[in-house]
Amino acid sequence: MLAAASIIPRSLHKGIQITRALKSRKISFSALPPHPPPLANSVLDTIGNTPLVRLDRFCQALGLRNGSSGSNNHNSKPLILAKLENTNPGMSKKDRIAHEIIRQAKAAGILQEGQPVVELTSGNTGTGLAMVCPLLGHPFCAVMSQGNSRERAQMMRFLGAEVVLVPQAPGSAANQVSGEDLALVEETAQKLCQDRQSFRIDQFVRKANADAHYLGTAREILEQVKDSPDVRIDGFVDFVGTGGSFAGCTKRFKEDCSHFVSCHIVEPEGISPLARKYTNQSDSNRSSGSSKNHVIQGGGYDMPELTLLEEVIQKGYVDGFLQVDNQGATDMARLLGKTEGIFGGFSAGANLHAAVQLIQSGQASQVVALICDSGSKYYSADLLPS
Ligand SMILES: Cc1ncc(COP(=O)(O)O)c(C=O)c1O
Repeated sequence: MLAAASIIPRSLHKGIQITRALKSRKISFSALPPHPPPLANSVLDTIGNTPLVRLDRFCQALGLRNGSSGSNNHNSKPLILAKLENTNPGMSKKDRIAHEIIRQAKAAGILQEGQPVVELTSGNTGTGLAMVCPLLGHPFCAVMSQGNSRERAQMMRFLGAEVVLVPQAPGSAANQVSGEDLALVEETAQKLCQDRQSFRIDQFVRKANADAHYLGTAREILEQVKDSPDVRIDGFVDFVGTGGSFAGCTKRFKEDCSHFVSCHIVEPEGISPLARKYTNQSDSNRSSGSSKNHVIQGGGYDMPELTLLEEVIQKGYVDGFLQVDNQGATDMARLLGKTEGIFGGFSAGANLHAAVQLIQSGQASQVVALICDSGSKYYSADLLPS
């Protein structure tokens, strides 16, 4: 099993200039895509169908090479493919689940006409719901920890949502949400839901969360690479919060690909309950008490049980666990910006750091990573260099 390694060349820490137009691959200068998307009836029609981008320049800047482990299943050029979920209208992959959960609940008759909706959120699901709910006739209330970045609450309010902020547990650090903080948010969300007879989205247990990625994200990825003979995805890494995108994408890759795709759960270094539970892997950097915080918002909550992962774990679809530290996630998000012109958040950086580890270990050579949200959600956190 891999430990988080230092994979960023010293020169990058010193801030060398990296040009985007590296020689490895020609950049297309066509001004417009051949087919613009059709006229949308509402913003709901613009969720999903996000771009998939080759990160040749990012890989070249790192000098990325395939590792020598025997399990590398083909000799293709090392490559990371980035699914730009930051280009969804609410700037995160969570727009997909907001739409799918509401859609399925209405279809099943468990969400009544005009019924208010409540959800616990780190901000991204809430932003998706703040967009989707009013368009479908439901008032929305988001319950969020004060430890999440301020701009997330501002964005939900801008979209018309009510936002209830819950103070963090004693000892928690600003911009770092722990499992204890989340438990407090859950308590408030449950109470609000009961008092107001609201529909609870329950993103941690609702199967429609994973379905959104099975039916959307991963299906799109396979469609997007099918006409590229030099691309054969053999790895997938995903930083886990609810586990919805890992479960949905992994299930689709395992079911639909005729070749092996090595799927790895990503957790923050020092907080790796899933790795410890399923592999007895010890994390030598494991923190205790109030220092169990990290900067990668949206996951790493120190929860050893995640309902949405049960099926993929039971089917043996989880091939491993990778850990990423704060610095690695931050450096990779910044490198993505410098080399590829893509503005992703901390968890995008965590996924890229894990993709690099997977390639260097030789367990895969062409790896998909989600750019879960936009860097613009972190102006008040330490993502942007000062
Ligand atoms: C920015 C970001 N990255 C990653 C995740 C984790 O995604 P999932 O809940 O599908 O595991 C979340 C979840 O809220 C998120 O907001």
